[in-house]
Amino acid sequence: MAIRLIRKEPDEVLRKTSREVTAFDDRLAQLLDDMYDTMYDAGGVGLAAVQVGILKRAVVVDTREEGERYELVNPKLVYKKGEREVTEGCLSVPGVSGYVKRPEKVIVRAQDRTGETFEVEATGLLAQAFCHEIEHLDGGLFIDKVTEYIDD
Ligand code: NI
Repeated sequence: MAIRLIRKEPDEVLRKTSREVTAFDDRLAQLLDDMYDTMYDAGGVGLAAVQVGILKRAVVVDTREEGERYELVNPKLVYKKGEREVTEGCLSVPGVSGYVKRPEKVIVRAQDRTGETFEVEATGLLAQAFCHEIEHLDGGLFIDKVTEYIDD
Protein backbone atom coordinates (compact mmCIF):
# COMPACT_ATOMS: atom_id res chain seq x y z
CA MET A 1 0.00 0.00 0.00
CA ALA A 2 1.35 3.38 -0.95
CA ILE A 3 0.30 6.87 -1.78
CA ARG A 4 1.02 7.68 -5.41
CA LEU A 5 1.53 11.05 -7.05
CA ILE A 6 -1.70 12.55 -8.39
CA ARG A 7 -1.27 13.97 -11.88
CA LYS A 8 -2.64 17.47 -12.25
CA GLU A 9 -4.00 19.41 -15.18
CA PRO A 10 -2.42 20.21 -17.70
CA ASP A 11 -0.47 16.91 -17.48
CA GLU A 12 -1.10 15.38 -20.88
CA VAL A 13 -1.57 11.85 -19.50
CA LEU A 14 -4.98 12.99 -18.22
CA ARG A 15 -6.13 13.38 -21.84
CA LYS A 16 -5.15 9.86 -22.89
CA THR A 17 -7.49 6.91 -23.35
CA SER A 18 -6.96 4.13 -20.84
CA ARG A 19 -6.66 0.52 -21.94
CA GLU A 20 -8.92 -2.39 -21.01
CA VAL A 21 -7.62 -4.45 -18.10
CA THR A 22 -6.99 -8.04 -19.17
CA ALA A 23 -4.71 -9.25 -16.36
CA PHE A 24 -6.45 -9.63 -13.00
CA ASP A 25 -3.23 -10.15 -11.14
CA ASP A 26 -1.29 -8.94 -8.12
CA ARG A 27 -0.22 -5.79 -9.94
CA LEU A 28 -3.85 -4.81 -10.48
CA ALA A 29 -4.64 -5.49 -6.81
CA GLN A 30 -1.65 -3.39 -5.74
CA LEU A 31 -2.73 -0.57 -8.05
CA LEU A 32 -6.28 -0.57 -6.64
CA ASP A 33 -5.01 -0.63 -3.04
CA ASP A 34 -2.67 2.26 -3.77
CA MET A 35 -5.51 4.15 -5.45
CA TYR A 36 -7.63 3.85 -2.28
CA ASP A 37 -4.71 5.13 -0.18
CA THR A 38 -4.11 8.00 -2.56
CA MET A 39 -7.79 8.94 -2.73
CA TYR A 40 -8.25 8.89 1.05
CA ASP A 41 -5.03 10.82 1.61
CA ALA A 42 -6.21 13.53 -0.78
CA GLY A 43 -9.75 13.59 0.63
CA GLY A 44 -11.42 12.70 -2.66
CA VAL A 45 -14.50 10.55 -3.34
CA GLY A 46 -13.11 8.90 -6.44
CA LEU A 47 -9.92 8.27 -8.35
CA ALA A 48 -9.14 6.83 -11.77
CA ALA A 49 -5.89 4.99 -12.50
CA VAL A 50 -4.95 7.57 -15.13
CA GLN A 51 -4.81 10.14 -12.32
CA VAL A 52 -1.80 8.32 -10.93
CA GLY A 53 -0.36 7.97 -14.42
CA ILE A 54 -1.48 4.41 -15.12
CA LEU A 55 -3.51 4.00 -18.32
CA LYS A 56 -5.69 1.13 -17.15
CA ARG A 57 -9.48 1.20 -17.07
CA ALA A 58 -9.80 1.05 -13.29
CA VAL A 59 -11.40 3.40 -10.77
CA VAL A 60 -12.15 3.50 -7.07
CA VAL A 61 -15.05 5.38 -5.50
CA ASP A 62 -16.02 5.99 -1.90
CA THR A 63 -18.59 8.69 -1.30
CA ARG A 64 -18.68 8.08 2.48
CA GLU A 65 -22.32 9.21 2.37
CA GLU A 66 -23.33 5.95 0.80
CA GLY A 67 -21.27 3.98 3.27
CA GLU A 68 -19.84 1.75 0.60
CA ARG A 69 -16.79 1.73 -1.54
CA TYR A 70 -16.48 0.42 -5.04
CA GLU A 71 -13.69 -0.60 -7.31
CA LEU A 72 -14.67 -0.73 -10.95
CA VAL A 73 -12.47 -2.41 -13.52
CA ASN A 74 -13.41 -1.93 -17.18
CA PRO A 75 -16.58 -0.04 -16.13
CA LYS A 76 -19.32 0.76 -18.61
CA LEU A 77 -22.30 3.01 -18.15
CA VAL A 78 -25.13 0.76 -19.35
CA TYR A 79 -28.10 2.90 -18.28
CA LYS A 80 -28.75 6.47 -17.30
CA LYS A 81 -31.89 8.36 -16.43
CA GLY A 82 -32.76 11.93 -15.59
CA GLU A 83 -30.55 14.93 -15.20
CA ARG A 84 -29.60 17.21 -12.36
CA GLU A 85 -27.20 20.07 -11.90
CA VAL A 86 -24.48 19.44 -9.35
CA THR A 87 -21.28 21.05 -8.15
CA GLU A 88 -18.15 19.14 -8.93
CA GLY A 89 -14.40 19.17 -8.54
CA CYS A 90 -11.49 16.85 -9.27
CA LEU A 91 -8.25 15.95 -7.49
CA SER A 92 -6.44 16.56 -10.80
CA VAL A 93 -7.83 20.10 -11.05
CA PRO A 94 -7.16 21.46 -7.57
CA GLY A 95 -8.89 24.58 -6.36
CA VAL A 96 -11.51 24.57 -9.12
CA SER A 97 -15.20 23.75 -8.84
CA GLY A 98 -18.17 24.35 -11.06
CA TYR A 99 -21.65 23.25 -12.04
CA VAL A 100 -22.13 20.27 -14.33
CA LYS A 101 -25.13 18.21 -15.39
CA ARG A 102 -25.18 14.59 -14.30
CA PRO A 103 -27.74 11.79 -14.56
CA GLU A 104 -30.02 11.20 -11.56
CA LYS A 105 -29.62 7.46 -11.86
CA VAL A 106 -27.14 5.16 -13.56
CA ILE A 107 -26.35 1.49 -13.86
CA VAL A 108 -22.70 0.58 -14.29
CA ARG A 109 -21.40 -2.81 -15.37
CA ALA A 110 -17.84 -3.55 -14.33
CA GLN A 111 -15.46 -6.23 -13.15
CA ASP A 112 -13.89 -6.57 -9.73
CA ARG A 113 -10.20 -7.23 -9.08
CA THR A 114 -10.67 -10.94 -9.72
CA GLY A 115 -12.38 -10.38 -13.08
CA GLU A 116 -15.90 -11.14 -11.83
CA THR A 117 -18.54 -9.06 -13.64
CA PHE A 118 -21.18 -7.21 -11.62
CA GLU A 119 -23.67 -4.40 -12.02
CA VAL A 120 -24.33 -1.58 -9.60
CA GLU A 121 -27.20 0.89 -9.60
CA ALA A 122 -26.51 4.35 -8.23
CA THR A 123 -28.22 7.66 -7.62
CA GLY A 124 -27.09 11.03 -6.29
CA LEU A 125 -23.45 11.56 -5.43
CA LEU A 126 -22.54 7.95 -6.15
CA ALA A 127 -23.95 8.19 -9.68
CA GLN A 128 -22.11 11.48 -10.15
CA ALA A 129 -18.83 9.96 -9.00
CA PHE A 130 -19.20 6.94 -11.28
CA CYS A 131 -19.81 9.20 -14.30
CA HIS A 132 -16.91 11.49 -13.41
CA GLU A 133 -14.45 8.62 -12.97
CA ILE A 134 -15.54 6.74 -16.09
CA GLU A 135 -14.98 9.92 -18.13
CA HIS A 136 -11.39 10.03 -16.89
CA LEU A 137 -10.81 6.70 -18.66
CA ASP A 138 -11.43 8.36 -22.01
CA GLY A 139 -9.39 11.47 -21.27
CA GLY A 140 -12.34 13.54 -20.04
CA LEU A 141 -12.23 16.12 -17.27
CA PHE A 142 -15.20 17.74 -15.58
CA ILE A 143 -13.96 21.16 -16.70
CA ASP A 144 -14.90 20.13 -20.24
CA LYS A 145 -18.56 20.27 -19.26
CA VAL A 146 -18.73 22.98 -16.63
CA THR A 147 -21.59 25.39 -17.28
CA GLU A 148 -20.44 27.88 -14.67
CA TYR A 149 -17.41 28.07 -12.39
CA ILE A 150 -17.85 28.71 -8.68
CA ASP A 151 -15.68 31.34 -7.07
CA ASP A 152 -14.24 30.33 -3.75
NI1 NI B 1 -11.53 13.61 -11.34
